[in-house]
Amino acid sequence: MTARQRCDRTPAWARLRELYDTCGRTLDLRRAFEADPGRFERLSLQVPHVFADLSKNLIDAPLQQSLTELARASGVQAHRDAMFQGEHVNRTEDRAAMHWLLRQPLQGAGGLAPALQAELRQVHGVLDAMLAYAQAVREDAAITDVVNIGIGGSDLGPQMAVLALDEFVDHRKRYHFVSSVDGHELSAVLRQVRPENTLFLVASKSFTTLETMTNARSARAWFTAQGGRDIARHFCALTSNVQAAAEFGITTTFGFWDWVGGRYSMWSAIGLPVAIAIGPQRFRELLAGAHAMDQHFLGAPLEQNLPVQLALLDVWYRNFHGFTSRSVAPYHSGLRRMQAYLQQLEMESNGKRVDESGQALPYATSPVIWGEPAANGQHAYFQMLHQGSDVIPVEFIAVKKVAHDLPEHHHKLLANGLAQAQALMLGQQDAGGHRHMPGNRPSTFLLLEELTPASLGALIALYEHRVFVAGSLWGINSFDQWGVELGKVLAKAIELRLASGDAAGLDGSTAGLLQRLRDPR
Ligand code: F6P
Repeated sequence: MTARQRCDRTPAWARLRELYDTCGRTLDLRRAFEADPGRFERLSLQVPHVFADLSKNLIDAPLQQSLTELARASGVQAHRDAMFQGEHVNRTEDRAAMHWLLRQPLQGAGGLAPALQAELRQVHGVLDAMLAYAQAVREDAAITDVVNIGIGGSDLGPQMAVLALDEFVDHRKRYHFVSSVDGHELSAVLRQVRPENTLFLVASKSFTTLETMTNARSARAWFTAQGGRDIARHFCALTSNVQAAAEFGITTTFGFWDWVGGRYSMWSAIGLPVAIAIGPQRFRELLAGAHAMDQHFLGAPLEQNLPVQLALLDVWYRNFHGFTSRSVAPYHSGLRRMQAYLQQLEMESNGKRVDESGQALPYATSPVIWGEPAANGQHAYFQMLHQGSDVIPVEFIAVKKVAHDLPEHHHKLLANGLAQAQALMLGQQDAGGHRHMPGNRPSTFLLLEELTPASLGALIALYEHRVFVAGSLWGINSFDQWGVELGKVLAKAIELRLASGDAAGLDGSTAGLLQRLRDPR
């Protein structure tokens, strides 16, 4: 394992503290632009498929250098290389984290260690089989509805991507995503579909997740009750637990490996609904876009490495400025599930309070990630972004060229995005009282030329690596999620108590609610 150094134990951290006290805390974006006409060029980066304007962030060139020094001193490069060499960077589960291998082309993989080359051949074996299956489903006119049953990483990535890539989707079929155990979701879908026309994809890495298995069992019961017979044709499993899928009665299964974390799995068999929706070639483009970002992350110097620079801003804002959240503001309706996807990616990865060795951390980690498609957000919570008592960095995501033929709309949409970023920074200094806006509120502007499979792949990989670098700096394991286990265990026990009414030994609130829920009146 590589020499990682927790960020707060490096000399660079102490230096940043000093800089924050002397000039960081009071940095004024308006003055910074006046003082440096080259600021936009200096603080923007073009990386594969993504242009990033970082110039409206609370940094200047010397601060950026010191932040980059923090990445260097914390051993981020060595940690990154360890991940790309297949080391078990997920230490608490003793696993590698090799989602990047899922988008590694076979050609040019000569530099990989022999063990990884063998894994890569398996990856491509499953990919080819899954894409051939996706193509067969696309050509099967009798299948009009594809229902993905999965939750968390087995839902959010594919759902987000199918929505984002709508322009490329085969709309002769409908795509449904059932995730919650709330029966409204499944029953609403079942009302719309017929067994002979429906393909159910049971997506679960573990094939044990309560919500997914409950939904899958109910879907199977509905299918047989409606006269459906051919489970092999109408059910397909996407899982790393192939045996459990077979026991469930599913014979068509696409597998993946324990080194693919759930929230990093949309590139694996979990991506099947995306592959059916956009087709094999486009799915390969999605992988290629992500691979291009992997290459950028691996090869670009830290100063020009976008995942690294974004992660450093996360640390700067969370640990020095004390900002507690980041708002994601997509200016493209296709990206309307992006925030939900990023919430899992970032908060399940870096929402940790101990370091890799289990020691309590003396500083805060993941910010709260939140937001809505921003054209709507502007008429809702943007008020708080401009005049609220908290400073909340905003991440704008805009797309230059769009597919629809309403250019006036797009023009207005982009103008609004630019105006919001400008208003956050400039504020309204000369107005008093209720109209006063302090300004100097930071934002990042990410710009895609077009929203295509390749650019979406690159954007998602950018976020994955940014989360990795932030976790690396904070000294945490970004690949486990022990925090979600307790609730699962308690839910099992409470399910039994809800049935029996036994509230003995429960805390007063849970007992009171349980009794109220059982009360027949
Ligand atoms: O409960 C959290 C979690 O384990 C996520 O990490 C994961 O993406 C989700 O549940 C679904 O897990 P699975 O794919 O095994 O059903």
